[in-house]
Amino acid sequence: MRDLVRETRLSPDRFVAPLFVRHGRGLREEVPSLPGVFRLSPDEAVSEAQQLRSLGVPAVILFGIPEKKDENGSEAWDDGAAVQETVRRLKKDAPELLVVTDVCLDEYTSHGHCGVIRDGEVDNDATLPLLARAALSHARAGVDVVGPSDMMDGRVGAIRRALDDDGYTAVGILSYAAKAASAFYGPFREAADSAPTFGDRRGYQMDPANRREAMREIALDLEEGADAVMVKPALAYLDVISEARERFDAPIAAYNVSGEYALVKAAAERGWIDERRIVLEILTGIVRAGADFVLTYHAKDAARWLAQG
Ligand code: PBG
Repeated sequence: MRDLVRETRLSPDRFVAPLFVRHGRGLREEVPSLPGVFRLSPDEAVSEAQQLRSLGVPAVILFGIPEKKDENGSEAWDDGAAVQETVRRLKKDAPELLVVTDVCLDEYTSHGHCGVIRDGEVDNDATLPLLARAALSHARAGVDVVGPSDMMDGRVGAIRRALDDDGYTAVGILSYAAKAASAFYGPFREAADSAPTFGDRRGYQMDPANRREAMREIALDLEEGADAVMVKPALAYLDVISEARERFDAPIAAYNVSGEYALVKAAAERGWIDERRIVLEILTGIVRAGADFVLTYHAKDAARWLAQG
């Protein structure tokens, strides 16, 4: 009876698995604050993605770890960089998988900010062409969807125009639309070595306290041409997900971020919680709030657990 009347059904086809990639071969370095998450070389990323696919996870999102960082983050639009290389391999060796790339500069800049610095501040408008260049480079590699996560104003429109002008009209945009300036990104910044060297990201990421502003951010990104919009983080923002679902007739994604994952893993390691039940309950809650799909480091484990029934 409970199966018949269940309102929210979780299945692996709602998951997108984040993968960190860097140049090399046979490389699998575990991220200390994210047990079970690895920095992978392109070959290892392909086998990880194939495993995910066989467990029913339809998509991955790639984050790059560059060989060198500079002021403008130029490796972000280098056609030979690890993300671009991995996209090419995935499209060849796992063609049925949806490949999303994170488009941002923070992993690639020496100062760790998501944009260009002018007079000690991030310059919004000067950053837009660089983000568009990065997105175009991913498109040339064959990506299906680009995910701008920088939170500069106007970047969705700038990326859409650049893609269309070069004939990449079929490449979609999943925008990190309502992204808070959150402490929950700590472990990610360790994984990607992307913590800002000065200041913080409050000048471009949102105040966690603002729900109405989150709705404005989502509306603007949809107007600029986003195909799907994301709320990030997920757990402390379920009301934002829920209101976005009510208001917008567009696919809504939620990012169950690194800090949310790390909390669960740390408590599970100590035997303080039942990891499997906690993870499935968290993911069910995010979907119940209204997310169509969830970016989550739990994707592989959760897909396995769901297959076991
Ligand atoms: C920026 C980016 C971040 C995350 C995804 N894209 C970090 C940040 O804004 O500092 C965080 C994801 C996570 O914590 O899991 N490129």
